[in-house]
Amino acid sequence: MTKYIVQGGKPLFGEVEISGAKNAAVAIIPAALLVDGVCRIENIPQISDVTMSLKILEQLGAGIRTINRHTVEIDCSHIRSTRTSYELARKIRASYYLIGALLGRFGQAEVAMPGGCNFGGVRPIDQHVKGFTALGAKVLVESGFIHASAENGRLKGASIYLDVVSVGATMNIMMAAVMAEGNTVIENAAKEPHIVDLANFLNSMGANIRGAGTDTIKIRGVERLRGGSYAIIPDQIEAGTYMAAVAATGGQILVKNIIPKHMDCITAKLQECGVEVEEHEDTLLVRRTGKLQKANVKTMPYPGFPTDMQPQITTVLSLAEGTSLVTEGVWSNRYRYVDELRRMGASIQVDEKTAVVEGVERLTGAPIQAYDLRAGAAMVIAALAAHGQSEISGVKYIERGYENIVAKLQALGADIRSVEEPDETAAMEAHIG
Ligand code: EPU
Repeated sequence: MTKYIVQGGKPLFGEVEISGAKNAAVAIIPAALLVDGVCRIENIPQISDVTMSLKILEQLGAGIRTINRHTVEIDCSHIRSTRTSYELARKIRASYYLIGALLGRFGQAEVAMPGGCNFGGVRPIDQHVKGFTALGAKVLVESGFIHASAENGRLKGASIYLDVVSVGATMNIMMAAVMAEGNTVIENAAKEPHIVDLANFLNSMGANIRGAGTDTIKIRGVERLRGGSYAIIPDQIEAGTYMAAVAATGGQILVKNIIPKHMDCITAKLQECGVEVEEHEDTLLVRRTGKLQKANVKTMPYPGFPTDMQPQITTVLSLAEGTSLVTEGVWSNRYRYVDELRRMGASIQVDEKTAVVEGVERLTGAPIQAYDLRAGAAMVIAALAAHGQSEISGVKYIERGYENIVAKLQALGADIRSVEEPDETAAMEAHIG
Protein backbone atom coordinates (compact mmCIF):
# COMPACT_ATOMS: atom_id res chain seq x y z
CA MET A 1 0.00 0.00 0.00
CA THR A 2 1.29 3.46 -0.89
CA LYS A 3 1.07 6.34 1.57
CA TYR A 4 2.03 9.97 1.34
CA ILE A 5 4.02 11.38 4.22
CA VAL A 6 3.69 15.15 4.47
CA GLN A 7 5.47 17.60 6.77
CA GLY A 8 3.09 20.53 6.58
CA GLY A 9 3.28 24.22 7.32
CA LYS A 10 5.51 25.28 4.41
CA PRO A 11 4.31 27.85 1.88
CA LEU A 12 4.48 26.82 -1.79
CA PHE A 13 6.63 28.66 -4.33
CA GLY A 14 7.44 27.92 -7.97
CA GLU A 15 5.76 26.71 -11.14
CA VAL A 16 3.45 23.82 -11.89
CA GLU A 17 2.56 22.47 -15.32
CA ILE A 18 -1.05 21.29 -15.62
CA SER A 19 -1.74 17.97 -17.39
CA GLY A 20 -4.50 17.10 -19.85
CA ALA A 21 -8.02 16.95 -18.44
CA LYS A 22 -8.94 13.63 -16.87
CA ASN A 23 -12.66 13.92 -17.49
CA ALA A 24 -12.06 14.80 -21.15
CA ALA A 25 -9.52 11.99 -21.60
CA VAL A 26 -11.76 9.30 -20.11
CA ALA A 27 -14.46 10.24 -22.66
CA ILE A 28 -12.24 10.87 -25.69
CA ILE A 29 -10.40 7.53 -25.36
CA PRO A 30 -13.63 5.47 -25.60
CA ALA A 31 -14.84 7.87 -28.33
CA ALA A 32 -11.93 6.60 -30.43
CA LEU A 33 -14.05 3.43 -30.81
CA LEU A 34 -16.28 5.45 -33.12
CA VAL A 35 -13.43 6.10 -35.50
CA ASP A 36 -12.63 3.75 -38.36
CA GLY A 37 -8.97 4.70 -38.57
CA VAL A 38 -6.09 5.92 -36.42
CA CYS A 39 -6.66 8.70 -33.86
CA ARG A 40 -3.62 10.40 -32.49
CA ILE A 41 -4.45 11.86 -29.09
CA GLU A 42 -2.06 14.32 -27.47
CA ASN A 43 -1.88 15.83 -23.97
CA ILE A 44 -3.20 12.64 -22.38
CA PRO A 45 -2.67 12.71 -18.60
CA GLN A 46 -0.64 9.85 -17.12
CA ILE A 47 -3.14 8.69 -14.51
CA SER A 48 -4.53 5.30 -13.63
CA ASP A 49 -8.04 5.99 -15.03
CA VAL A 50 -6.45 6.62 -18.45
CA THR A 51 -4.33 3.46 -18.23
CA MET A 52 -7.49 1.51 -17.42
CA SER A 53 -9.45 3.09 -20.31
CA LEU A 54 -6.69 2.19 -22.78
CA LYS A 55 -6.55 -1.39 -21.42
CA ILE A 56 -10.29 -1.77 -21.98
CA LEU A 57 -9.97 -0.62 -25.59
CA GLU A 58 -7.06 -2.95 -26.18
CA GLN A 59 -9.10 -5.85 -24.85
CA LEU A 60 -11.82 -4.99 -27.40
CA GLY A 61 -9.26 -5.24 -30.20
CA ALA A 62 -7.99 -1.67 -30.56
CA GLY A 63 -4.37 -1.17 -31.56
CA ILE A 64 -2.70 1.16 -29.03
CA ARG A 65 0.64 2.72 -29.83
CA THR A 66 2.37 4.89 -27.25
CA ILE A 67 4.20 7.70 -29.03
CA ASN A 68 5.47 9.44 -25.90
CA ARG A 69 4.40 10.01 -22.27
CA HIS A 70 1.39 12.09 -23.31
CA THR A 71 0.57 10.93 -26.83
CA VAL A 72 -1.04 7.70 -28.01
CA GLU A 73 -2.34 6.47 -31.32
CA ILE A 74 -5.49 4.39 -31.15
CA ASP A 75 -6.57 2.29 -34.10
CA CYS A 76 -10.11 0.96 -33.84
CA SER A 77 -10.32 -0.33 -37.44
CA HIS A 78 -10.38 -3.96 -36.28
CA ILE A 79 -12.51 -4.15 -33.15
CA ARG A 80 -13.18 -7.82 -32.30
CA SER A 81 -15.81 -7.54 -29.62
CA THR A 82 -18.53 -5.25 -28.30
CA ARG A 83 -18.46 -6.86 -24.85
CA THR A 84 -16.09 -5.37 -22.28
CA SER A 85 -14.21 -7.30 -19.63
CA TYR A 86 -16.23 -7.21 -16.41
CA GLU A 87 -13.13 -6.87 -14.26
CA LEU A 88 -11.69 -3.91 -16.15
CA ALA A 89 -14.85 -1.96 -16.90
CA ARG A 90 -16.23 -2.02 -13.38
CA LYS A 91 -13.09 -0.37 -12.02
CA ILE A 92 -13.81 3.05 -13.52
CA ARG A 93 -16.87 5.21 -13.58
CA ALA A 94 -16.18 6.44 -17.09
CA SER A 95 -16.62 2.95 -18.54
CA TYR A 96 -20.22 4.04 -19.21
CA TYR A 97 -18.87 5.93 -22.23
CA LEU A 98 -18.14 2.55 -23.83
CA ILE A 99 -21.88 2.05 -24.16
CA GLY A 100 -22.43 5.20 -26.24
CA ALA A 101 -19.31 4.61 -28.32
CA LEU A 102 -19.92 0.90 -29.08
CA LEU A 103 -23.61 1.42 -29.67
CA GLY A 104 -22.92 4.38 -31.97
CA ARG A 105 -20.40 2.51 -34.09
CA PHE A 106 -21.60 -1.12 -34.02
CA GLY A 107 -25.23 -0.86 -32.95
CA GLN A 108 -24.59 -2.94 -29.83
CA ALA A 109 -22.74 -2.87 -26.53
CA GLU A 110 -22.33 -5.04 -23.46
CA VAL A 111 -20.60 -3.15 -20.70
CA ALA A 112 -20.18 -3.98 -17.02
CA MET A 113 -22.07 -1.61 -14.72
CA PRO A 114 -19.57 1.18 -14.01
CA GLY A 115 -17.62 1.63 -10.78
CA GLY A 116 -15.97 4.95 -9.98
CA CYS A 117 -15.48 7.15 -6.99
CA ASN A 118 -17.74 6.30 -4.15
CA PHE A 119 -18.77 9.43 -2.34
CA GLY A 120 -21.67 8.00 -0.52
CA GLY A 121 -24.67 8.47 -2.77
CA VAL A 122 -26.06 6.52 -5.68
CA ARG A 123 -24.70 7.48 -9.10
CA PRO A 124 -27.55 6.76 -11.49
CA ILE A 125 -27.32 6.50 -15.29
CA ASP A 126 -31.03 6.74 -16.06
CA GLN A 127 -30.49 9.83 -18.26
CA HIS A 128 -27.97 7.95 -20.37
CA VAL A 129 -30.47 5.14 -20.81
CA LYS A 130 -33.23 7.64 -21.62
CA GLY A 131 -31.06 9.04 -24.41
CA PHE A 132 -30.11 5.65 -25.88
CA THR A 133 -33.74 4.55 -25.78
CA ALA A 134 -34.89 7.72 -27.56
CA LEU A 135 -32.32 6.94 -30.27
CA GLY A 136 -34.00 3.57 -30.76
CA ALA A 137 -31.86 1.28 -28.60
CA LYS A 138 -33.11 -1.46 -26.32
CA VAL A 139 -31.29 -1.29 -23.00
CA LEU A 140 -31.40 -3.83 -20.21
CA VAL A 141 -29.29 -4.73 -17.20
CA GLU A 142 -28.50 -8.39 -16.66
CA SER A 143 -25.88 -10.22 -14.63
CA GLY A 144 -23.88 -7.07 -13.90
CA PHE A 145 -23.83 -5.96 -17.54
CA ILE A 146 -25.69 -3.25 -19.41
CA HIS A 147 -26.83 -4.64 -22.77
CA ALA A 148 -27.74 -2.08 -25.40
CA SER A 149 -28.64 -2.76 -29.00
CA ALA A 150 -30.04 -0.72 -31.87
CA GLU A 151 -33.01 -2.06 -33.75
CA ASN A 152 -31.90 -2.88 -37.31
CA GLY A 153 -28.28 -2.21 -36.25
CA ARG A 154 -28.32 1.59 -36.52
CA LEU A 155 -29.62 4.27 -34.17
CA LYS A 156 -32.05 6.95 -35.37
CA GLY A 157 -31.68 10.66 -34.52
CA ALA A 158 -34.12 12.04 -31.93
CA SER A 159 -34.83 14.99 -29.63
CA ILE A 160 -33.82 14.38 -26.04
CA TYR A 161 -34.54 16.70 -23.13
CA LEU A 162 -32.42 15.75 -20.12
CA ASP A 163 -34.27 15.80 -16.79
CA VAL A 164 -31.05 16.65 -14.95
CA VAL A 165 -27.96 18.40 -16.27
CA SER A 166 -25.61 15.45 -16.59
CA VAL A 167 -22.07 15.57 -17.93
CA GLY A 168 -21.95 11.83 -18.51
CA ALA A 169 -25.36 11.58 -20.20
CA THR A 170 -24.62 14.55 -22.47
CA MET A 171 -21.34 13.05 -23.66
CA ASN A 172 -22.66 9.50 -23.93
CA ILE A 173 -25.68 10.53 -26.00
CA MET A 174 -23.42 12.67 -28.19
CA MET A 175 -21.26 9.63 -28.91
CA ALA A 176 -24.22 7.39 -29.65
CA ALA A 177 -25.82 9.98 -31.96
CA VAL A 178 -22.78 10.90 -33.99
CA MET A 179 -23.39 8.22 -36.62
CA ALA A 180 -27.14 7.79 -36.09
CA GLU A 181 -29.43 8.20 -39.05
CA GLY A 182 -30.68 11.81 -39.16
CA ASN A 183 -30.54 14.62 -36.61
CA THR A 184 -30.33 14.56 -32.83
CA VAL A 185 -30.94 17.44 -30.44
CA ILE A 186 -29.88 17.25 -26.78
CA GLU A 187 -31.58 19.90 -24.66
CA ASN A 188 -30.70 20.87 -21.10
CA ALA A 189 -27.24 19.60 -21.97
CA ALA A 190 -24.26 20.03 -19.65
CA LYS A 191 -21.79 22.76 -20.67
CA GLU A 192 -18.52 21.71 -19.03
CA PRO A 193 -15.28 22.37 -20.95
CA HIS A 194 -14.84 18.62 -21.47
CA ILE A 195 -18.20 18.48 -23.32
CA VAL A 196 -16.82 21.00 -25.80
CA ASP A 197 -13.56 19.05 -25.95
CA LEU A 198 -15.34 15.81 -26.83
CA ALA A 199 -17.38 17.60 -29.51
CA ASN A 200 -14.21 19.15 -30.94
CA PHE A 201 -12.51 15.76 -30.96
CA LEU A 202 -15.44 14.12 -32.75
CA ASN A 203 -15.77 17.02 -35.23
CA SER A 204 -12.07 16.80 -36.02
CA MET A 205 -12.68 13.13 -36.93
CA GLY A 206 -15.55 14.08 -39.27
CA ALA A 207 -18.62 14.41 -37.02
CA ASN A 208 -21.13 17.23 -37.35
CA ILE A 209 -21.88 18.55 -33.84
CA ARG A 210 -22.89 22.14 -33.12
CA GLY A 211 -23.75 23.96 -29.91
CA ALA A 212 -21.49 22.09 -27.47
CA GLY A 213 -20.87 24.44 -24.54
CA THR A 214 -24.48 25.70 -24.69
CA ASP A 215 -27.53 23.90 -23.32
CA THR A 216 -28.65 22.77 -26.78
CA ILE A 217 -26.43 20.44 -28.79
CA LYS A 218 -27.34 19.56 -32.37
CA ILE A 219 -25.86 16.53 -34.05
CA ARG A 220 -26.25 15.63 -37.70
CA GLY A 221 -25.48 11.93 -38.12
CA VAL A 222 -22.62 11.09 -40.50
CA GLU A 223 -21.82 7.77 -42.19
CA ARG A 224 -18.37 7.32 -40.76
CA LEU A 225 -15.60 8.95 -38.73
CA ARG A 226 -12.08 8.87 -40.09
CA GLY A 227 -8.76 9.17 -38.28
CA GLY A 228 -7.05 12.38 -37.23
CA SER A 229 -5.08 14.12 -34.55
CA TYR A 230 -6.34 15.91 -31.44
CA ALA A 231 -4.90 17.49 -28.27
CA ILE A 232 -6.89 17.30 -25.02
CA ILE A 233 -7.56 20.52 -23.04
CA PRO A 234 -5.79 21.22 -19.73
CA ASP A 235 -7.39 19.95 -16.54
CA GLN A 236 -9.50 22.64 -14.89
CA ILE A 237 -9.77 20.72 -11.62
CA GLU A 238 -6.10 19.83 -11.38
CA ALA A 239 -5.28 23.53 -11.87
CA GLY A 240 -7.89 24.51 -9.29
CA THR A 241 -6.44 22.01 -6.83
CA TYR A 242 -2.97 23.61 -7.02
CA MET A 243 -4.58 27.04 -6.67
CA ALA A 244 -6.39 25.84 -3.56
CA ALA A 245 -3.15 24.35 -2.24
CA VAL A 246 -1.32 27.68 -2.36
CA ALA A 247 -4.38 29.40 -0.94
CA ALA A 248 -4.17 27.07 2.07
CA THR A 249 -0.40 27.13 2.58
CA GLY A 250 0.38 30.69 1.49
CA GLY A 251 3.15 31.48 -1.01
CA GLN A 252 3.10 32.15 -4.73
CA ILE A 253 2.88 29.76 -7.68
CA LEU A 254 2.61 30.04 -11.42
CA VAL A 255 0.02 27.61 -12.76
CA LYS A 256 1.03 26.85 -16.35
CA ASN A 257 -0.74 25.38 -19.38
CA ILE A 258 -4.30 26.34 -18.49
CA ILE A 259 -7.23 28.03 -20.21
CA PRO A 260 -7.94 31.01 -17.91
CA LYS A 261 -11.62 31.18 -18.98
CA HIS A 262 -12.18 27.65 -17.65
CA MET A 263 -10.76 28.78 -14.33
CA ASP A 264 -13.01 31.84 -13.82
CA CYS A 265 -15.46 30.12 -11.46
CA ILE A 266 -12.58 28.99 -9.21
CA THR A 267 -10.50 32.16 -9.57
CA ALA A 268 -13.43 34.38 -8.54
CA LYS A 269 -14.08 32.36 -5.39
CA LEU A 270 -10.44 32.29 -4.33
CA GLN A 271 -10.22 36.05 -4.87
CA GLU A 272 -13.21 36.44 -2.56
CA CYS A 273 -11.19 34.53 0.03
CA GLY A 274 -8.34 37.05 -0.25
CA VAL A 275 -6.14 35.14 -2.72
CA GLU A 276 -4.52 37.23 -5.46
CA VAL A 277 -4.82 35.78 -8.96
CA GLU A 278 -3.15 37.39 -11.96
CA GLU A 279 -4.30 36.11 -15.33
CA HIS A 280 -2.00 35.74 -18.32
CA GLU A 281 -2.52 34.08 -21.71
CA ASP A 282 -2.20 30.47 -20.57
CA THR A 283 -0.96 30.86 -16.99
CA LEU A 284 -2.23 32.13 -13.67
CA LEU A 285 -0.04 33.63 -10.98
CA VAL A 286 -1.59 32.76 -7.64
CA ARG A 287 -0.44 34.40 -4.42
CA ARG A 288 -1.64 34.33 -0.83
CA THR A 289 0.13 36.48 1.70
CA GLY A 290 -2.59 37.83 4.01
CA LYS A 291 -5.28 36.06 6.02
CA LEU A 292 -7.90 33.94 4.27
CA GLN A 293 -11.44 35.35 4.36
CA LYS A 294 -14.68 33.41 4.69
CA ALA A 295 -16.85 32.87 1.59
CA ASN A 296 -20.03 31.02 0.74
CA VAL A 297 -19.84 28.42 -2.02
CA LYS A 298 -22.53 26.55 -3.90
CA THR A 299 -21.49 23.89 -6.37
CA MET A 300 -23.34 23.84 -9.68
CA PRO A 301 -22.92 22.58 -13.22
CA TYR A 302 -20.52 24.67 -15.34
CA PRO A 303 -20.07 27.64 -15.38
CA GLY A 304 -20.91 27.44 -11.67
CA PHE A 305 -18.38 26.44 -9.02
CA PRO A 306 -17.45 22.79 -9.75
CA THR A 307 -18.43 20.02 -7.39
CA ASP A 308 -15.05 18.44 -8.09
CA MET A 309 -13.48 21.40 -6.25
CA GLN A 310 -15.83 21.24 -3.26
CA PRO A 311 -13.59 19.23 -0.87
CA GLN A 312 -10.57 21.38 -1.78
CA ILE A 313 -12.35 24.74 -1.23
CA THR A 314 -13.87 23.50 2.03
CA THR A 315 -10.36 22.70 3.22
CA VAL A 316 -9.22 26.23 2.32
CA LEU A 317 -12.23 27.73 4.11
CA SER A 318 -11.50 25.64 7.21
CA LEU A 319 -8.51 28.00 7.66
CA ALA A 320 -10.34 31.27 6.83
CA GLU A 321 -11.43 33.97 9.24
CA GLY A 322 -15.13 33.66 9.99
CA THR A 323 -17.84 31.13 9.17
CA SER A 324 -18.42 29.96 5.58
CA LEU A 325 -21.30 27.99 4.13
CA VAL A 326 -20.62 25.35 1.50
CA THR A 327 -23.61 23.88 -0.33
CA GLU A 328 -23.26 20.82 -2.55
CA GLY A 329 -25.60 21.30 -5.48
CA VAL A 330 -24.66 18.37 -7.70
CA TRP A 331 -24.19 15.19 -5.63
CA SER A 332 -26.39 14.08 -2.77
CA ASN A 333 -23.48 13.27 -0.48
CA ARG A 334 -19.92 14.42 -0.88
CA TYR A 335 -18.81 15.26 2.65
CA ARG A 336 -17.35 12.02 3.88
CA TYR A 337 -13.88 13.61 4.00
CA VAL A 338 -15.03 16.14 6.61
CA ASP A 339 -14.44 13.64 9.44
CA GLU A 340 -10.79 13.47 8.40
CA LEU A 341 -10.47 17.27 8.43
CA ARG A 342 -12.03 17.33 11.88
CA ARG A 343 -9.33 14.95 13.06
CA MET A 344 -6.85 17.64 12.03
CA GLY A 345 -8.65 20.28 14.08
CA ALA A 346 -11.11 21.71 11.54
CA SER A 347 -14.47 22.88 12.81
CA ILE A 348 -17.09 21.79 10.26
CA GLN A 349 -20.70 20.73 10.76
CA VAL A 350 -22.53 19.00 7.94
CA ASP A 351 -26.28 19.04 7.58
CA GLU A 352 -27.32 17.15 4.47
CA LYS A 353 -26.06 19.23 1.53
CA THR A 354 -24.60 22.08 3.57
CA ALA A 355 -21.35 22.33 5.48
CA VAL A 356 -20.94 25.09 8.05
CA VAL A 357 -17.24 25.78 8.17
CA GLU A 358 -15.96 27.77 11.13
CA GLY A 359 -12.43 28.84 10.30
CA VAL A 360 -9.71 27.77 12.74
CA GLU A 361 -6.24 29.27 13.28
CA ARG A 362 -4.46 26.12 12.16
CA LEU A 363 -4.78 22.43 11.31
CA THR A 364 -2.49 19.84 12.85
CA GLY A 365 -0.98 16.82 11.08
CA ALA A 366 -2.67 13.44 11.59
CA PRO A 367 -3.03 10.02 9.94
CA ILE A 368 -5.78 10.59 7.38
CA GLN A 369 -7.56 8.64 4.69
CA ALA A 370 -8.41 9.58 1.10
CA TYR A 371 -11.90 8.19 0.48
CA ASP A 372 -12.18 9.26 -3.15
CA LEU A 373 -10.25 11.26 -5.73
CA ARG A 374 -11.20 14.83 -4.81
CA ALA A 375 -11.47 14.06 -1.11
CA GLY A 376 -7.93 12.75 -1.49
CA ALA A 377 -6.84 16.04 -3.07
CA ALA A 378 -8.38 17.83 -0.10
CA MET A 379 -6.39 15.61 2.27
CA VAL A 380 -3.18 16.56 0.48
CA ILE A 381 -4.04 20.28 0.75
CA ALA A 382 -4.92 19.94 4.44
CA ALA A 383 -1.69 18.04 5.14
CA LEU A 384 0.41 20.66 3.29
CA ALA A 385 -1.16 23.46 5.34
CA ALA A 386 -1.16 21.64 8.70
CA HIS A 387 1.49 21.95 11.37
CA GLY A 388 3.34 18.69 11.85
CA GLN A 389 3.31 15.38 10.02
CA SER A 390 0.37 13.72 8.24
CA GLU A 391 0.20 10.26 6.73
CA ILE A 392 -2.29 9.96 3.91
CA SER A 393 -3.55 6.50 3.00
CA GLY A 394 -5.86 5.54 0.14
CA VAL A 395 -3.64 7.39 -2.33
CA LYS A 396 -4.62 5.08 -5.18
CA TYR A 397 -7.74 7.25 -5.43
CA ILE A 398 -5.63 10.38 -5.80
CA GLU A 399 -3.50 8.77 -8.50
CA ARG A 400 -6.60 7.99 -10.55
CA GLY A 401 -6.79 11.66 -11.44
CA TYR A 402 -3.62 13.58 -10.56
CA GLU A 403 -0.53 13.01 -12.66
CA ASN A 404 2.71 13.02 -10.66
CA ILE A 405 1.17 14.90 -7.78
CA VAL A 406 4.05 14.16 -5.42
CA ALA A 407 6.76 15.33 -7.85
CA LYS A 408 4.75 18.41 -8.84
CA LEU A 409 4.32 19.43 -5.19
CA GLN A 410 7.95 18.70 -4.36
CA ALA A 411 8.93 21.07 -7.18
CA LEU A 412 6.85 23.73 -5.38
CA GLY A 413 8.88 23.15 -2.22
CA ALA A 414 6.42 20.88 -0.42
CA ASP A 415 7.78 18.26 1.96
CA ILE A 416 5.81 15.28 0.66
CA ARG A 417 6.98 11.80 -0.21
CA SER A 418 5.39 8.59 -1.30
CA VAL A 419 6.23 5.45 0.69
CA GLU A 420 5.34 1.80 0.18
CA GLU A 421 4.03 -0.02 3.22
CA PRO A 422 2.79 -3.57 3.69
CA ASP A 423 -0.94 -3.71 3.05
CA GLU A 424 -2.40 -4.23 6.53
CA THR A 425 -5.95 -3.41 5.62
CA ALA A 426 -7.27 -5.52 2.83
CA ALA A 427 -10.55 -3.93 3.94
CA MET A 428 -9.47 -0.87 1.95
CA GLU A 429 -10.69 -2.73 -1.11
CA ALA A 430 -14.20 -2.23 0.20
CA HIS A 431 -13.96 1.42 -0.82
CA ILE A 432 -13.47 0.53 -4.49
CA GLY A 433 -13.52 3.69 -6.65
N1 EPU B 1 -27.66 12.06 -12.60
C1 EPU B 1 -28.87 11.44 -12.68
N2 EPU B 1 -29.07 10.55 -13.70
C2 EPU B 1 -28.12 10.29 -14.62
C3 EPU B 1 -26.87 10.93 -14.54
C4 EPU B 1 -26.67 11.82 -13.51
O1 EPU B 1 -29.75 11.67 -11.86
O2 EPU B 1 -28.37 9.47 -15.52
C5 EPU B 1 -27.41 13.03 -11.52
C6 EPU B 1 -26.30 12.57 -10.58
O3 EPU B 1 -26.79 11.75 -9.56
C7 EPU B 1 -25.76 13.88 -10.09
C8 EPU B 1 -25.95 14.84 -11.27
O4 EPU B 1 -26.93 14.23 -12.10
O5 EPU B 1 -26.53 14.34 -9.01
C9 EPU B 1 -24.72 15.12 -12.11
O6 EPU B 1 -24.12 13.90 -12.55
P1 EPU B 1 -23.25 13.82 -13.88
O7 EPU B 1 -23.89 12.82 -14.76
O8 EPU B 1 -23.00 15.19 -14.39
O9 EPU B 1 -21.90 13.20 -13.34
P2 EPU B 1 -21.00 12.09 -14.03
O10 EPU B 1 -21.01 12.27 -15.48
O11 EPU B 1 -21.28 10.76 -13.47
C10 EPU B 1 -18.86 13.59 -14.12
C11 EPU B 1 -17.46 13.49 -13.59
C12 EPU B 1 -17.48 13.70 -12.09
C13 EPU B 1 -18.16 15.05 -11.76
C14 EPU B 1 -19.53 15.14 -12.41
C15 EPU B 1 -20.18 16.51 -12.25
C16 EPU B 1 -16.43 11.94 -15.10
C17 EPU B 1 -15.88 10.60 -15.32
N3 EPU B 1 -16.92 12.18 -13.90
O12 EPU B 1 -19.57 12.53 -13.48
O13 EPU B 1 -16.12 13.77 -11.74
O14 EPU B 1 -18.31 15.18 -10.36
O15 EPU B 1 -19.41 14.87 -13.82
O16 EPU B 1 -19.37 17.49 -12.80
O17 EPU B 1 -16.41 12.78 -15.99
C18 EPU B 1 -14.25 13.54 -10.41
O18 EPU B 1 -13.58 13.86 -11.40
O19 EPU B 1 -13.81 13.48 -9.25
C19 EPU B 1 -15.66 13.23 -10.59
C20 EPU B 1 -16.36 12.55 -9.70
